[in-house]
Amino acid sequence: MIRVGLIGAGFVGPAHVEALRRLGYVEVLALAGSNARRAREKADELGIPEACGDYRQLLASPRVTVIHNATPNQLHFAINRDALQAGKHVVSEKPLSLTVEEGRRLVHMARETELVNAIDYNYRGYPLVQQMRAMIGRGDIGRVWAVHGFYMQDWLLYPTDFNWRILPEVGGESRAVADIGSHWCDLAQWVTGQRISRVIGRLGTMLPVRYRPAERVQTFAQAAEGQREEVQVHTEDYASVLFDMDGGAMGSLMLSQVSAGRKNRLWIQVDGSDGAMAWDHDRPEELWIGRRGRPNELVPRDPNLFAPGVGRFSDLPAGHAEGWADALRNLMAEIYDFVRAGKNPVREAPTFPTFYDGLVENRLVDAILESHRRSAWVEVAGVREQAPAPA
Ligand SMILES: NC(=O)c1ccc[n+]([C@@H]2O[C@H](COP(=O)([O-])OP(=O)(O)OC[C@H]3O[C@@H](n4cnc5c(N)ncnc54)[C@H](O)[C@@H]3O)[C@@H](O)[C@H]2O)c1
Repeated sequence: MIRVGLIGAGFVGPAHVEALRRLGYVEVLALAGSNARRAREKADELGIPEACGDYRQLLASPRVTVIHNATPNQLHFAINRDALQAGKHVVSEKPLSLTVEEGRRLVHMARETELVNAIDYNYRGYPLVQQMRAMIGRGDIGRVWAVHGFYMQDWLLYPTDFNWRILPEVGGESRAVADIGSHWCDLAQWVTGQRISRVIGRLGTMLPVRYRPAERVQTFAQAAEGQREEVQVHTEDYASVLFDMDGGAMGSLMLSQVSAGRKNRLWIQVDGSDGAMAWDHDRPEELWIGRRGRPNELVPRDPNLFAPGVGRFSDLPAGHAEGWADALRNLMAEIYDFVRAGKNPVREAPTFPTFYDGLVENRLVDAILESHRRSAWVEVAGVREQAPAPA
């Protein structure tokens, strides 16, 4: 058994627990929460044996070998750093950290310690996203020349909608771009194999004032009626971004957390010289292929039809719907196969997103914010830098 310590069990932490349990050889041994009482209650609810109110206690446990960091963003850097220092493998929620400099330090530490380091860009775990990457990689749509799409949500549509992500000191300077745009950009880069190299973004805060409830509100939940305090909002609800990629493709992206009726609508299309491909998170069991001289195609999620190597991302036969929780499980399976085999991420290339991918996203977010401030195109730092390659 590989034993895990989970830090933070709000919305996404319990989804990690479920995904890990499905692997069969991982035990979530301990939970650290923001205080001991809440951690104990949550641990009982989730069937986790040990609980504590200070994550450092959990890092000191010799039985725990992997840490999952599912806390609000401003805690990511310190927890990821302390976990590596304590000799634990780390699976961090995104973002890796709030700043590029912190991200660089974590990438450096991960390389020095040779511990497994992963970041939860879980949309990569969908089988048809893997299929898209495989088909683009083998040239099925020719030369990739454009990538476009959007990611829209509506859970922050009303001035009374509130979450820690709205506050820059907790969520970071950017919201829509860092919170959901980072997933889309990770996918765009992952499926095409190209890096976003230049950006120009325009950000909008449609709701400059929000009303914060006295009680903490869980992600995606609505706050109860009651006393509220007025808060000035400085993070963006909305963003439009144009970009260039280092392999020659150009792209555009629209992001919103205030688009009524769109719950978690991620859509991405890749256009090539010989066809196009689109994946829609509202229809995750289909991959659309656009053709000019012949009928378009729809690839269903059918393990029998997948490219070599994609089958492991699909548990169930075709026709038995899989979704978000399954994609998360698939990503965890990639990470834990690596951990279980005792692989060293400095010597063998991981098949899952690592801290380096987190740094790539930090740099992208920075560039988009700067381009908005200056109303100008901005080069993304580090694009020409070699990603850490196996020694
Ligand atoms: N990959 C994804 O698809 C995805 C989805 C949702 C959230 N996330 C990321 O996961 C993280 C958590 O988001 P969420 O939506 O679950 O937030 P949340 O507010 O629902 O949960 C965060 C939890 O962390 C706990 N916490 C706060 N301070 C703590 C501390 N010092 N020690 C231990 N626990 C502490 C809170 O009590 C809460 O239970 C964020 O960084 C977010 O970006 C990723």
